[in-house]
Amino acid sequence: MKKIIITIDGWSSCGKSTLAKQLARHLHYVYIDSGAMYRAITLYFLRNHVDWTNGAAVDEAMTHIRLEFMTNHKTGNTEVYLNGENVEYVIRDLVIAEAVSEVAAVKAVRDFAVARQQEMGKSKGIVMDGRDIGTVVFPNAELKIFMTADEAVRVQRRYRELYEKNPNITLEEVKQNLAKRDYIDSHRAISPLRQADDAIVLNNSHLTMKEQLQIAEDWVKERL
Ligand code: DC
Repeated sequence: MKKIIITIDGWSSCGKSTLAKQLARHLHYVYIDSGAMYRAITLYFLRNHVDWTNGAAVDEAMTHIRLEFMTNHKTGNTEVYLNGENVEYVIRDLVIAEAVSEVAAVKAVRDFAVARQQEMGKSKGIVMDGRDIGTVVFPNAELKIFMTADEAVRVQRRYRELYEKNPNITLEEVKQNLAKRDYIDSHRAISPLRQADDAIVLNNSHLTMKEQLQIAEDWVKERL
């Protein structure tokens, strides 16, 4: 059976990873959360006091970073490992979210992550979500989805997610973090977030998970 590459790019918290996981499960494809790589690198930098504005310090630090994805057999989802440690949970913290867009704008960091992402896509059968997957990582992907949702919907979704771990979090903090990340992610010099010319837009503000999967599945069928 023919296997394709599916890319899902878009703004923060519009449900890219939810759709990517749904599709991967349905198609028996590998799901890779490229944002988790930038988050894990940010975690390494914060823990080891690496100044990401210092090129030499970043180059040195990158030689000590090993990232892997492994399947959690209970959930069926892939989880990210930093130098052998499962960091899937800790990288979702707001402390990481506050710094990750700056780290993800550093060229050496992007070169490192993109090379690994392209390696993982070599045998196709992959769904990858992020910001530059359809534009830079897999410009020849068979199906490119650009996801979007109304700002208020996105803030609510991320708030609910973060609130479970930290009930002290406020809606305003979440709103500001999303706005800041979207601004940096779409205005950086290298590989800014933008819709690929051949991407299809999926606005899921008023869609259920079942409905969004149905739409994406139809697009997959057209390409297979
Ligand atoms: O998808 P996410 O929110 O976990 O991504 C975290 C950050 O990583 C996001 O603010 C931008 C950056 N990122 C990126 O620059 N390129 C990607 N392909 C994925 C994420």
